[in-house]
Amino acid sequence: MRGRFITIEGIDGAGKSTQTESLIALLKARGVEVVRTREPGGTPVGEKIRELLLNEEMDVETETLLFFASRAEHVEKVIRPALERGAWVLSDRFTDATYAYQAGGKGMSGRRVEALEKWTLGDFAPDLTILFDIAPETAHERLAARGVDEDRFERLGVDFFTRVRDAYLERAAANPARFLIVDASAAPEKVAGEIAAKVTSWL
Ligand code: TYD
Repeated sequence: MRGRFITIEGIDGAGKSTQTESLIALLKARGVEVVRTREPGGTPVGEKIRELLLNEEMDVETETLLFFASRAEHVEKVIRPALERGAWVLSDRFTDATYAYQAGGKGMSGRRVEALEKWTLGDFAPDLTILFDIAPETAHERLAARGVDEDRFERLGVDFFTRVRDAYLERAAANPARFLIVDASAAPEKVAGEIAAKVTSWL
C-alpha cells in the first residue's frame, strides 16, 4: 500500500519541530516506516541549493526557481520512492511555502509559481498539510527567547511574516480537505491531540 505524504508548514518560529517529533513517535509506535525530510534540502543536491538559498542574497525569481529545482530532485529521489514502498513521508515545508514566502511575502506572481508547480510536480501533492498558525509577533518572541533565527525575523520584519501567514491561510481556505490548521499558540498537548486524531483516522 502506498504511504501518505504529510507536509508541515507555518511561519518561522511557529514551533513545528516539537510536534513533528510526537507525530513521528505516534507513527513508529504503529509500526509505520517514517521518512523525515525538509525543504529546501532533502537530497545531496538539495542541501547544496539550501546553502545558497539561506546564505546568498538573490532576486525573487532566482530564489523561486531554486526552490523548485531542489523540490523536483526531492520528489523524484526521495519522496516518491518512499511512498511507493509504503513509507510515510513527513516533510518540513513543501510547495505551499513557495506560495506563502515567494508569492505572498515577496510579491512573486502566484500564476508563475503555479506554472512551475505543474511543470515540476504535475498533480503530485501532499495528502495532508499541517499548518501551524501563529501571530508573527508571538513567533518573534519565541525565537528571541530561544536566541535562534532572530536575525532573519529582524531583517524581513513583522509585515513580511504577516503576508506569509495570510498567504498560508488563503491556501488552506482554498484546499480545506488537505489542510489541518492548528493554533500554534495553544497548549502543546492540545495541538498534539488534534494532529494525532487526524492522522489516526488513516491508520
Ligand atoms: P529553515 O532554517 O529550514 O527554517 P524552518 O526551520 O523555519 O523551516 O529555513 C527555511 C527558510 O526557507 C524559511 O524561512 C522558509 C523559507 N522557504 C521559502 O521561502 N520558500 C520555500 O519554498 C521553502 C521550502 C522555504
